[in-house]
Amino acid sequence: MDIHPDIERVIVSEDKIQTRVVELAAQISQDYAGDGQLVIIGILKGAFIFLADLTRRLAVPHRIDFMSLSSYGQTATTTGAVRIIMDLRLDIESRHVLVIEDIIDSGYTLHYLLDVLRARRPASLKSCVLLSKPERRKVDVPVDYLGFEIPDVWVVGYGLDYADTHRTLSYIGALKREVYE
Ligand code: IMP
Ligand code: MG
Repeated sequence: MDIHPDIERVIVSEDKIQTRVVELAAQISQDYAGDGQLVIIGILKGAFIFLADLTRRLAVPHRIDFMSLSSYGQTATTTGAVRIIMDLRLDIESRHVLVIEDIIDSGYTLHYLLDVLRARRPASLKSCVLLSKPERRKVDVPVDYLGFEIPDVWVVGYGLDYADTHRTLSYIGALKREVYE
C-alpha cells in the first residue's frame, strides 16, 4: 500500500476498516431486524464514506438523511456548544434512529446531537461511531456501535480530514506533525 507523504503512520488499515464495517453492519442488521424502516443519520462531512460502506451492507430497510454541525471551538467555550448548520429533512418522530459519526473525541458533538434528536421523540435513538479517542473524553456519551479505539493523535482518511484535505485516503492515518504545525 502506498502511504501519502503527509502521513506519519497508518492507524487503521483499509483491510481492518472493511472487516469491521462488515461486522458492524451484521450486528446492526440483527439488532434492528423486524423493527420496520430505520432512519440512518450521517453527520457531514466526516461520516460520508463510513456511512456509504456501512449502509450498503445493511440487511434491514432504511432511509438516509444528513446533518451538518459546527463546533464553536474548544478554546472559546468550556460548554462545548455545537451549532446545527444543516438540519434533517426527514421527520424522525416515532422512528428508530441510528446516528453515524466519524469520530468521538471530547464527546461534546455527539452529546449535543443526541439531546437535540431525543427531543424529537424518536422510537429509539442509538449511535454508531467509527473511531474513539477515549483519553480525550470530557463528557460521557453512549456509543452503541464502535469501530475502533485509537490513540490521541490527529487522524485523516476514510472521510476524516485535516483542513478539508486527505478525506479520500482508503485507510486511517496519523498526520505528520509538520503538516499541521
Ligand atoms: P468532539 O465533539 O470533541 O467529540 O469532536 C468530534 C468532532 O471533531 C468529529 O466529528 C470530527 O469532526 C472532529 N475530530 C476530532 N478528532 C479528529 C481527528 O483526529 N481527525 C479529524 N477530525 C477529528
Ligand atoms: Mg465530524
